[in-house]
Amino acid sequence: MIKVGVAGYGVIGQRLADGVAWQKDMELVGVADVAPTLPIRALYESGMKYRLYTALPEKKHLLTDIGIPVSGTLEELVQEVDIMLDATSAGIGAKNKELYQKYHTKAIFQGGEKNDVADVFFHGYANYEKGVGADYLKLTSCNTTGLIRAIDAIDRAVGVVKTAITIIRRVADPGDYHRGLTNALQVDKAPSHQCLDLMTIMPHVDATGILIHTPVTHGHIITPVVSTRGKISKEELLAIFNAHPRIKVVRLEDGFLGNASLFKYARDLGNKRGDMYEVAVWEESIVNSGDDIMFAMNIPQESVVIPETMDGIRAAMKMQLTREEGTAETNKYLWMK
Ligand SMILES: NC(=O)c1ccc[n+]([C@@H]2O[C@H](COP(=O)([O-])OP(=O)(O)OC[C@H]3O[C@@H](n4cnc5c(N)ncnc54)[C@H](O)[C@@H]3O)[C@@H](O)[C@H]2O)c1
Repeated sequence: MIKVGVAGYGVIGQRLADGVAWQKDMELVGVADVAPTLPIRALYESGMKYRLYTALPEKKHLLTDIGIPVSGTLEELVQEVDIMLDATSAGIGAKNKELYQKYHTKAIFQGGEKNDVADVFFHGYANYEKGVGADYLKLTSCNTTGLIRAIDAIDRAVGVVKTAITIIRRVADPGDYHRGLTNALQVDKAPSHQCLDLMTIMPHVDATGILIHTPVTHGHIITPVVSTRGKISKEELLAIFNAHPRIKVVRLEDGFLGNASLFKYARDLGNKRGDMYEVAVWEESIVNSGDDIMFAMNIPQESVVIPETMDGIRAAMKMQLTREEGTAETNKYLWMK
């Protein structure tokens, strides 16, 4: 049983903890945070399913004073586990790394950390083998994770030469009031970091694109234009996506009209918090443009990186040595086809 700890019990950390708890070959030892945040209060009020450790021992009373039990410190948690999943606020992971190094504990960082925090910039499908045995992995961001799933699937099937994407990016997660409610669109400088990240992991693909922020919390939408080595038809692309366990093909005709339909559907399925591990591609959005092909995909930003992080544990801990075996195990435990 591989022992896993989670640092930072926020949007991503809560979901990583659930993800680990569902892997039958892993044990979630506990989660660490610094204060009685709403997710920590929810953890407490729903029966303290996971043991809580504090990353700020001098502020432990903030938790204990209101009855929240604390099982130890982050430093103690780091010593109890084989691997830490660091989902703290961007930049904190780099500081926590000193602790992980001190106790020779492996760690996986999330997209908000700088790339140099890790030995390998990791994606379960695109470069699993690079992560095998590595001490420090960094996951791609939510958009990049979903984007790479799709581009890698096409690349492995027919070879991708070039892609140009437009990302309609969700500006905040539900409850992120500190980001402000801006009823406006905001354009970023090109190329977007997702394309640069894609090229770091898949250097043979020439990627570029534009990102526009939008005041929406349920998902990003990306519309990649992909140049393949040989022309690919809509039917061929559909077959590639349908065969991918983490890509769900949906149809406008069936009522999947946009990002909100997918969020509601996940909720109707009974998925915890309306989480969805799959990215969705709209069948009717797939269209050829000359020799290129284009499509629209939805990225459930709160949960999309969970499967690839589980892959990261498998690679780093040498639980499985190939992407096929590693991703298949993760998929099995997260109920992906
Ligand atoms: N929110 C998303 O949609 C999303 C998607 C993919 C990746 N990410 C990445 O995941 C990481 C976490 O983002 P988030 O949205 O979950 O942030 P968040 O603000 O929701 O959660 C961060 C948590 O870390 C805690 N924390 C702060 N300092 C800590 C410390 N020293 N030790 C332990 N806990 C500490 C905070 O109290 C908070 O609960 C970032 O790198 C982010 O870029 C976020």
